[in-house]
Amino acid sequence: MTESTTQSATHPRILIVGNAGQLGRELERIFADAGSVTAVDRESVDLADPDQTRDFVRRTAPDVILNAAAYTAVDRAESEMALAHAVNALAPRVLAEEAAERDALLVHYSTDYVFDGSKSEPWTETDKPAPLNVYGASKLAGEQAIQNSRARHLIFRTSWVYGPHGKNFLLTMLRLARERDRLSIVDDQIGAPTTSIALARATHAIVTGVLAGRFGAAEYWSGLYHMTCAGSVSWFGFAQAIFACASRYLGVKSPELVPIGAKDYPTPAARPRNSVLSNAKLHARFGVHLPLWETALDEVLFAINR
Ligand SMILES: NC(=O)c1ccc[n+]([C@@H]2O[C@H](COP(=O)([O-])OP(=O)(O)OC[C@H]3O[C@@H](n4cnc5c(N)ncnc54)[C@H](OP(=O)(O)O)[C@@H]3O)[C@@H](O)[C@H]2O)c1
Repeated sequence: MTESTTQSATHPRILIVGNAGQLGRELERIFADAGSVTAVDRESVDLADPDQTRDFVRRTAPDVILNAAAYTAVDRAESEMALAHAVNALAPRVLAEEAAERDALLVHYSTDYVFDGSKSEPWTETDKPAPLNVYGASKLAGEQAIQNSRARHLIFRTSWVYGPHGKNFLLTMLRLARERDRLSIVDDQIGAPTTSIALARATHAIVTGVLAGRFGAAEYWSGLYHMTCAGSVSWFGFAQAIFACASRYLGVKSPELVPIGAKDYPTPAARPRNSVLSNAKLHARFGVHLPLWETALDEVLFAINR
């Protein structure tokens, strides 16, 4: 657990849950000056334990809760349904109840995997979710628990999250490039790769704006938003871009890349064919734009190279 010391009326108490994850780590960094920050990992609070979660929030007494923790093992969730549900659905409900109790703002993240991928256009917030896998269903249940609570909330649905740290597609590609000469990558699932850095920045801009009253009363901003980097690409196209960039910055030699269909790469959890999310509502309500995924990729590889 890490705690900053500043505390005053203009320095809200901010609780960041999941600070060891990709996004939590960036949130802790960017919110450091935004108030009195308590940032915790699973050691300090186990979200699978509702009583512990409730007690912890009461003891911390936050004005803002940023929940970056989640059960994110998409394939493993198929065989660990109860745990995925506890962390992704029940814990957000407890956080929302506690936030409502003390009129705190709850910021939560959800996923493109709430959709079945059948649409050819980008998905909007009003499209009907129909998750194809346990992870997506558990995250959808978490969204709904928050929406059904009285808490002032911001739910940001994002996609294909990666960054300089943690477990992600980019770091897996760089590791595999050291081990193999040839990689087969799925080319018929498209989405928007989104960096933990861009997500944390956008969250910071919105939350500080909300706290400063720039977006008016909660009825104008509380709700569900899509938040991804701009543009879209297949996993295969993303891998090509990663190696083009990595050879420039890191001197990594690209393996031979072979495009394949998802049917040739069977996984325990099914994944949507098109999981591109429209960010129009986020732009319209908060004036926030995330960078193009190519620009954001460049920034992450630059950060890895430092
Ligand atoms: N990764 C993606 O591609 C992706 C895509 C769409 C949406 N999202 C959403 O974006 C958000 C951030 O994802 P991320 O990529 O930063 O995830 P991440 O790197 O997997 O981090 C999640 C964190 O949650 C923690 N956690 C898991 N179970 C916990 C428990 N029982 N109690 C307390 N902490 C627990 C993990 O702790 P340990 O380190 O101890 O396991 C980990 O530090 C999540 O809401 C996720 O669903 C992610």
